[in-house]
Amino acid sequence: MAAENTFAFRGTYYHTPTYGSLDALRDVVLIVQEGKIVRIANGHEETAVQAEFGLAEVRRLKAGQYFVPGFIDTHVHAPQYLFTGTGTDVPLMEWLRKYTFPAECSFQDLEAARHRYLLLVKRFLANGTTTAMYYGSLHLQPNLVLVDSIERLGQRGVVGKVNMDRLSSDDYIENTADGLRDAEKFVTYTMGKKCSRIQPCITPRFIPTCTPELMKGLAEIAQKYGCHIQSHISECCGQVNCVREMHPEYASDAAVFEEMGLLTSRTVMAHGTLLTDDDIRHLARRGTAVSHCPLSNFMFGDAFFRVNHALSLGLKVGLGTDVAGGISPSMLFAQRMAVVNSRCIRAHKLAVSGGTTVTPEMEKDVITFKEALWLATVGGAQALDMADIVGTFEVGKEFDALLVDTNLSGTSGPFDVFEGEDDDQRFEKFINLGDDRNLIEVYVQGVCVKRGSEFPLERSGGGGAGGGVPEDDDRLMLASTPPEPAGADTLVDLANEEEPADSSVCNGNGDGAEGSVGGDNDGGDISGGVCGVDGSLQANEMRICGPDDRKRDDAYATAGGEAAPSAKRARH
Ligand code: GUN
Ligand code: FE
Repeated sequence: MAAENTFAFRGTYYHTPTYGSLDALRDVVLIVQEGKIVRIANGHEETAVQAEFGLAEVRRLKAGQYFVPGFIDTHVHAPQYLFTGTGTDVPLMEWLRKYTFPAECSFQDLEAARHRYLLLVKRFLANGTTTAMYYGSLHLQPNLVLVDSIERLGQRGVVGKVNMDRLSSDDYIENTADGLRDAEKFVTYTMGKKCSRIQPCITPRFIPTCTPELMKGLAEIAQKYGCHIQSHISECCGQVNCVREMHPEYASDAAVFEEMGLLTSRTVMAHGTLLTDDDIRHLARRGTAVSHCPLSNFMFGDAFFRVNHALSLGLKVGLGTDVAGGISPSMLFAQRMAVVNSRCIRAHKLAVSGGTTVTPEMEKDVITFKEALWLATVGGAQALDMADIVGTFEVGKEFDALLVDTNLSGTSGPFDVFEGEDDDQRFEKFINLGDDRNLIEVYVQGVCVKRGSEFPLERSGGGGAGGGVPEDDDRLMLASTPPEPAGADTLVDLANEEEPADSSVCNGNGDGAEGSVGGDNDGGDISGGVCGVDGSLQANEMRICGPDDRKRDDAYATAGGEAAPSAKRARH
């Protein structure tokens, strides 16, 4: 009689426990019980461990099949999946206004949101993203739909309701107090699910769209609930110049975030291409991570993020697709872009040198596919404070894994394998050439969430214990959600709560109130208006929406006059 919720695979497992090395666990039997790896035995011990765990069978991988840890995407804008692959013709600050805010706002149509978010989560799972750190949108309800979709399909997620109370468009902005209230509601809703796969995240979009009052309030919520935090930092010249103009009293984005209390060991800041070494050291001291998003940095950034340099200064670094600033949802693609990015740095240094000699110093920034895989697994796990749970194949960790098949030949697969190629070469081909077709099964917490073109949990309607067990192969599927975190007594159930009365539908449906969702704000144009492409403050195309604009201006003055010295111009 098979032990309940236990299964085993015999074969080769690739992972990267240390940066720069690719380890192969060759011909091992890996046993998963209740979603966790409980034993990694040698292949020749198969009969013994099969008996010990009461397994009816140990499933053997075919030649050319391997397991690799599930990918961890540390930066995704869930609603932007809608327009991924389009609209990259303008700089960041204009891109937000032209494409991003209208698209995100349209998720107030909850039926549309439901449909789109199921497609999104399926697409990411199909591409091997077992864990994603998601930005949702501004309005509360669509974010609940996003959480429900992740829960249903069995993905692991850190999810945030976006907060913005200034410098957004009229119909996509919130009042500071409403934003704080909804952020807390989102946190309690998500924690109230008691699903250990899904955690809420405090999400001030970035400094230009968040008043100090909002950022400080959000930091308090994060502290109260022990939440993750995510935002964007030192992304490109337009953004950085905008912040410098709005907050001249601070030396850098990092100094602003520090003063607001948003740099914690559970914070992930996207991009960081323009961080100084002092900024990086400061983030490292706080335990804050950077999500390296090479593809969107190519699109919007004005500098390269130097992974090896940042790691050498002690920074935690994960990898992100940054959909839709990055035009691909694939973490394989992101890994390749990370490698290309690193070689661009080398090429740039050579060009600047004016010579034809590549020096060891120029080589320092170059990473290989092995380091890129580390970023996509272990680095991401560290960034999300999950390094003891996922990222490698080790006893005690949860089984988040991708079953890779390199046997797809001809046009049924993305690459060909030739005689004499060994496992390591086939695996390297997969990392460099493979795609979702090679990912024949995807596991999260020991549950098969994707097999072939099927998403088994969708059929069963939920990602809970034993969900989605197919009749033909149930030994692979059984797993239960681990024990729930304590302290859930403050949680509220918002599942059926009405949309807050002061919210409005901003486009598309025709049934919503028109205009701003900024509550009783009566104008509140920020003096100076919106930051332009080059970061300069321009005419009033966007609005600030706070409870009291006069108070907001005072708050700026206060922040300028009373900020802790360490956070101000003095370097930290
Ligand atoms: N900065 C503020 N918002 C965004 C966004 O949605 N994408 C990117 N890439 N950068 C941002
Ligand atoms: Fe982003």
